[in-house]
Amino acid sequence: MLSKQDQLKKLVGEEAVHYIKDGMKIGLGSGSTVYWMVKKLGERVKEEGLKVEGIPSSDLTGDWAKEFGVPLTDFSQVEGLDITIDGADEVDENLHLIKGGGGALFREKIIAQAAKELIIIVDQSKKVQHLGRFPLPVEVLPFGWEMTAKEVESLGCEWKLRHRENDIYITDNGNYILDCYFNEILEPEKLHKQLKLMVGVVETGLFTNMADKVIVGGGDEIEVIER
Ligand code: 5RP
Repeated sequence: MLSKQDQLKKLVGEEAVHYIKDGMKIGLGSGSTVYWMVKKLGERVKEEGLKVEGIPSSDLTGDWAKEFGVPLTDFSQVEGLDITIDGADEVDENLHLIKGGGGALFREKIIAQAAKELIIIVDQSKKVQHLGRFPLPVEVLPFGWEMTAKEVESLGCEWKLRHRENDIYITDNGNYILDCYFNEILEPEKLHKQLKLMVGVVETGLFTNMADKVIVGGGDEIEVIER
């Protein structure tokens, strides 16, 4: 039995598959909402013979794609992507996002940037006025991460080095993640640029001006917000 929130994730995940057309190259995001999208897409591939190819943003999404029968490709084989469908941890009124709760932010940003259209799928709990209640994930190089963390802290946040159980969490790219508590991020674009100028920072979970459409599940309804 799915929780109410998981039912909404399933609803928007399956809804997003309607935007996928025959022949498309698709960026496959990460997270529990994307799970439902990949599963439904696999059904369409099997039942309708839909011809698509996906590039996954995490090893786990790649595993789901294989399990559900979604053919995969990679960036050596394609010129770009038609569409990327991904989840988010927060979405603000300007459709700026915080992503990376699942640790896949770097590859997620690559597939978002490579796509003609970025569709974000969320349940209503992810909608906020200002970003920042959810701690901002910042991927950093392991070498000298302590120094990078001090630099990050100078921007006015507290941070925690992400762990999985008792071990330091390692991204699919072999890096660490600092979860940064800013509480309220009023200028997401400026903060992203400040962080990116720091030597040890690989990527931030701030996705500004990237989402074209956000599909929000709430109650029994689906709301589609366009930029
Ligand atoms: C992973 C992400 C996810 O899209 C985000 O964490 C949302 O996940 P979920 O759909 O499980 O709530 O950015 O890095």
